[in-house]
Amino acid sequence: MGWNSWNTFETHIDEELVKGVAQAMIDNGMRDAGYNYIVLDDGWMTKERDADGNLVADPEKFPNGMKALADYLHEHGFKFGLYNCAGYDTCAGYPGSMGHEYQDALTYASYGIDYLKYDWCNTGTRDAQEAYTTMRDALYAAGRPVVFSMCEWGHSEPWTWAEDVGHLWRTTGDIIDCYDCVQQWSHGWKVILDMQMDQAEDHQGLGPFAGPGHWNDPDMMEVGNPGLTFAESRAHFSLWCVIAAPLIAGNDVRDMSPEITQLLTDKEAIAIDQDKLGKQGFRYYQDDEREIWVRELSGGDWAVCVLNASDEMRETEVDFSRLYFMFQDGVENMSIRDIWQKENLGNTDDTPVVKRPLEAHDVMFFRLSPVEG
Ligand code: GLA
Repeated sequence: MGWNSWNTFETHIDEELVKGVAQAMIDNGMRDAGYNYIVLDDGWMTKERDADGNLVADPEKFPNGMKALADYLHEHGFKFGLYNCAGYDTCAGYPGSMGHEYQDALTYASYGIDYLKYDWCNTGTRDAQEAYTTMRDALYAAGRPVVFSMCEWGHSEPWTWAEDVGHLWRTTGDIIDCYDCVQQWSHGWKVILDMQMDQAEDHQGLGPFAGPGHWNDPDMMEVGNPGLTFAESRAHFSLWCVIAAPLIAGNDVRDMSPEITQLLTDKEAIAIDQDKLGKQGFRYYQDDEREIWVRELSGGDWAVCVLNASDEMRETEVDFSRLYFMFQDGVENMSIRDIWQKENLGNTDDTPVVKRPLEAHDVMFFRLSPVEG
């Protein structure tokens, strides 16, 4: 869990922004809710390496250098992440790590970073497995523990080979802040969500490939960004929790509404995302107007998220008694917790069906727990 600069700021990043973001995340409760990693994406370097081939942090954007910034973030209870790329240049045209992996890993260790996002632009005919394994080995050799975030967009199906290479791997091209628009290779969150099911050969979804220490990454969140209604932000967040996504906020956390702050810091939703069983959820039901996504949780609990996928307000219904897989091992009755209404709705025995009007692209989000006896 954390924050990344790209979705809102692209390459317009500097030390003041990072410090402002850190302070905001302390003040609004995000840090204490678990958003620990602050990650600077593309644009933190100068356009050229120095005479010895080292990467250089842009002195205008980061006048005190990266080590000082890392120290500052560590003192404030955060971890610090940076970005680079497996190609000769990054996507925004800064020096990439190809041929400099071991040198760059030493640079990162000297800064004291805790996370590396590693992109895939300008890689030519390079083999993804070789490229990411080389960088992984370089990070190991540098000796500082680093979360290794692979950003290869799913091209080589990293879920089939990267379990021991990266801790998380992007599964698609880039997210943008709309519900289901498509712009070249960038997609609204709903399109990216669908790809989590459709990418796998059997259309059973990417879930089985993920687990503790190796996660599918459906990209950073657009929650709170202007292209989404509140309902769409709420659905986006809920469904990212259901699919066990890394929760990396991508909005301007220095300037967000109380509703979005509440959403992003909701303890019950976060507990679903971070559930220790580490099982990714899946789409169980879909028609033109409604989708039901479910996730098995520890202790026999289940998360159930019902999406109004139509473009209009709709009476939306879920019949829990039909989610037969929840009723296993002698479980016959489950209590229903409504996460967004903050209400206990009784048990599936007496309340098998919940039906209510939902705004376009909004969700109902529940946690069900087995009832004894
Ligand atoms: C690619 C990545 C994005 C972002 C940009 C930076 O598009 O997929 O997440 O890192 O590069 O240039």
